Parts: sequence; C-alpha cells; structure tokens
Amino acid sequence: MEIIIKQNYDQICEEAETIIYQAWKKKNNLVLGLPTGRTPLGVYKRLAALHNKGEIDFSRVVTFSLDEYLGLKENHPQSFASYMDKNFLQHINIKKENIFRLNGTPENIDNNCREYEEKIKRFGGIDIQILGIGRNGHIGFNEPSSSLSSRTRVKTLTQETIEANSRLFKDKNEVPRFCLTMGIGTIMESKMIVLLASGEDKSEAICKSLEGPITASVPASILQLHPQTKVIIDQEAASLLTGKEYYQWVYKNKERVSDYLEKKK
Ligand code: F6R
Repeated sequence: MEIIIKQNYDQICEEAETIIYQAWKKKNNLVLGLPTGRTPLGVYKRLAALHNKGEIDFSRVVTFSLDEYLGLKENHPQSFASYMDKNFLQHINIKKENIFRLNGTPENIDNNCREYEEKIKRFGGIDIQILGIGRNGHIGFNEPSSSLSSRTRVKTLTQETIEANSRLFKDKNEVPRFCLTMGIGTIMESKMIVLLASGEDKSEAICKSLEGPITASVPASILQLHPQTKVIIDQEAASLLTGKEYYQWVYKNKERVSDYLEKKK
C-alpha cells in the first residue's frame, strides 16, 4: 500500500485527479470504478474542470458505479445513478453506452449482479477503482462481516450507514435498508485502488484498515493484500496512524527512489 498524507481535502482531490489524468494519458479507454458520497465530490469537480479546459477527453472512458440503493429507480433524486449524473457524468463528454450502473429495481437480482460482473470482465476489468470509506471501515456497501471474497450482491445497510446517509433524505425512514454493491472480491480484482478519506471521523477506520489485522470486521483492511493500492488521506484522517512519520518519509523519498531505479537501467 502506498499511504499518501496530504494537508487537506483539496490536496487529496488534487492527488487523485493527477493519478487519474496520468493513467488516462497512457490509456484513453480507461475503465473507472466510481463511488458516491461526500469524499469523491472534489475529485469529480476537478476532473470536470480539466475536461472543460480541454485537457482530458472522456469519449473512450468507461465507468462502473460501485453501488446502488435497492428499490430506487435510476431517476430517483437520491439514487446513486442521479448522484453520479449530477456530480460528474453530465459535466463530461462520456458516451451513454460507456456508463454502467447497478440497476436498483432489477427483475432478477442475482442475474443482474452476475451480468454486472461479466460486463466488468468484458471491458478487461477496472483500471482504477476509487473508494471512500465508512466510519465502520466499509468499502462500497460491504458492511462489517461481509465476506472478504464476496461478489456483487445485495447487502443490508447498518443503522450507522443509514444514519450517515439520511442527510440527503427528507425523512430518515425513507433511506433504503438494502443496497446492491460490488463485492470485496470484485473490488480486489481492480488493477489499481485509490482509497480517499478526509476528516477526523474517518481516523479510526483508517487506522484499523491500514495498521490493524485483516478482518471482515473492518472490510477495508483487505486492501493490505492489494498490490496497487494508494490510500490518500488528510492530516485529520491520518491522526491515529502510528506509522504516520514513516509513511510521510516514504512519500518524500519516492522521487529519489524512481531516479535511482531509472539510473540503474
Ligand atoms: C458510496 C460508497 C460508500 C462511501 C462511504 C463514505 O458509493 O460506496 O462506501 O464511499 O460511505 O461516504 P462519504 O464519502 O460520504 O463519507
């Protein structure tokens, strides 16, 4: 895992933007896995601005949404599909046929989930999966106790997640209890994972995920086994990490290591 500690939220977003931009320069038909929530908003804004400046072209980019509420139609204002359109997809030149989402009102849930996984495979897998993290360590909507090798399926949200997400609904009772989410096994097949976290309320989940044991009780801890994971967090989210100084030291020396390896070639 590469742990990148930035001063603030804006710098986290800038770093994630740079990673995506650099990857797109190498592969214009980049396949992105995208979450909703508060955390990635700044990244989406930056990528849309980059597009407006004519520096990035999304016409060959493909996106897969990470999750969706079960029972909400695509056009429901609180569906994750609406969130993605409003906050990102309608501001870029992505082709409709390159946008893939989990259907929140499927006729056959199991078939739908299986087909979603097949589609990801058909595009050669996800190049970069962006993730936020729940205060309980969830990734996607894989709540604690989710199998660490799970596939796309239905999950029951925890009370805590329902509470956290209720800010967008008029009434807490309107928040769906169930969702569809890529599984942890599905997420782990992504070629690169970029986990973003900002704020003190994420510090415990970050500490347990990066420095604690790998356990289904903290789903994000599985990322310790992923060879290409970048964890980009601000000072507040990093505040409980015991190895914080070392991670900063590694990051500071990163360019020197690449220079050294370059010279050895
Ligand atoms: C959302 C998702 C969730 C969020 C997490 C953090 O699609 O998959 O795992 O990333 O709940 O949410 P925020 O960013 O709102 O703190």
